[in-house]
Amino acid sequence: MKFYKLSPEKRRDFLQKQGIKLDQIDSQVLHNLDLLSENVIGQLRLPVGLVQDLLVNGQNYQVPMVTEEASVVAAANNGAGIVAKAGGFTASSQRDGIWGQIVMQVAENFEVSHLHDMLPVMIKKTNSHFASLVSHGGGVRKIELKQINDLLYVKVLVDPAEAMGANKVNSILELMADELENFSGIKQKLFAILSNYPSQVTTVRAAVPIDLIGGIETARKIVLLSRIGQDDPMRAVTNNKGIMNGVDAVLLATGNDTRAVEAACGVFASKTGTYTSLSEWRLENEKLVGKLSIPLPIGTVGGSINSRKDVRQNYRILGEKIAAEQLANIIAAIGLANNLAALLAISTKGIQAGHMKLQARNIVTSLDATAAEKKVVFQKIINNKKYSQSAGQEFLREIREENNASRN
Ligand code: MEV
Repeated sequence: MKFYKLSPEKRRDFLQKQGIKLDQIDSQVLHNLDLLSENVIGQLRLPVGLVQDLLVNGQNYQVPMVTEEASVVAAANNGAGIVAKAGGFTASSQRDGIWGQIVMQVAENFEVSHLHDMLPVMIKKTNSHFASLVSHGGGVRKIELKQINDLLYVKVLVDPAEAMGANKVNSILELMADELENFSGIKQKLFAILSNYPSQVTTVRAAVPIDLIGGIETARKIVLLSRIGQDDPMRAVTNNKGIMNGVDAVLLATGNDTRAVEAACGVFASKTGTYTSLSEWRLENEKLVGKLSIPLPIGTVGGSINSRKDVRQNYRILGEKIAAEQLANIIAAIGLANNLAALLAISTKGIQAGHMKLQARNIVTSLDATAAEKKVVFQKIINNKKYSQSAGQEFLREIREENNASRN
């Protein structure tokens, strides 16, 4: 039998027969996961961390973040806390839709102008097939046409309402492509699929009095760092990685598609022709003013969002009735919070101070030791600045010897 047709237990047997040791997994959990994906054999768990006070457009949110990088949650809390003291983030989202693309092969003498008059009818007809989407406020918004030699490019803007909308957009495009094939001069459909080109752009701003970040010198360094990120792709990509640390963590927590957002942000960062920072910081009237614009093709319904209990819990933390636009504002604000915290650390004590603490934490987590022993080993690693696995083992041996000696 084909591997994908086997039960998850049988797939696990297959691996175990190769001598691969697999971790125990609850059979109900395994079967639930099997419904979510293909060829499932197990699970990978990640922690959910919390940002406590994210103030966006005057509303306070608690934001779950899913990441294995502890410094990301710490940085988001730090940045969000500073901005909350400064009155919070202001954010707005332009959510007019996501793009889909149909490409048809046409006859050499095809006249694209003949199609233009048909577009309003085509939009109306297509929307009539997607009544549920239209009733939720979505639907096809506009169609743009371009002919290059024997190829007709059809760009379709679809408002997915509160959903990410990938499946819906693809269904709409396929239907439209079938319709288009009936026009004279159109030979065949080459493809009809959504485009991950940037759309649904969210912009977030923060204005932080300089005394909240340690004064004018630090503010000037942050502005300089930001300028370097505008000019130098090598710094820009690192700056943007810090932003995506926060963005991806909230996308994962809310069951959104990290790959779609990452792909769109990469293009967005290159929109001038040179890869540049997604964020910008400048000094204005004794305030450090930051701005971040990013495409966020996200949703709060649909896909696997409704069926995943772990994701539903995160929506309860965010606020059950959260709209896609609010969530986009929150995600962008977290991105800017992470960015502020990173720039602040880099321009003051350096990034390593915090990171090495986390490195120490990772080392003790992997030790086969009690909680009390781990606490002591953690402190020894920090005090001795020895951040290796072997040093962790050595410290554990030492404290066990000391404990044994004091007992005897
Ligand atoms: C590390 O995960 C992210 C940073 O490198 C971002 C930055 O340099 O701006 C700290």
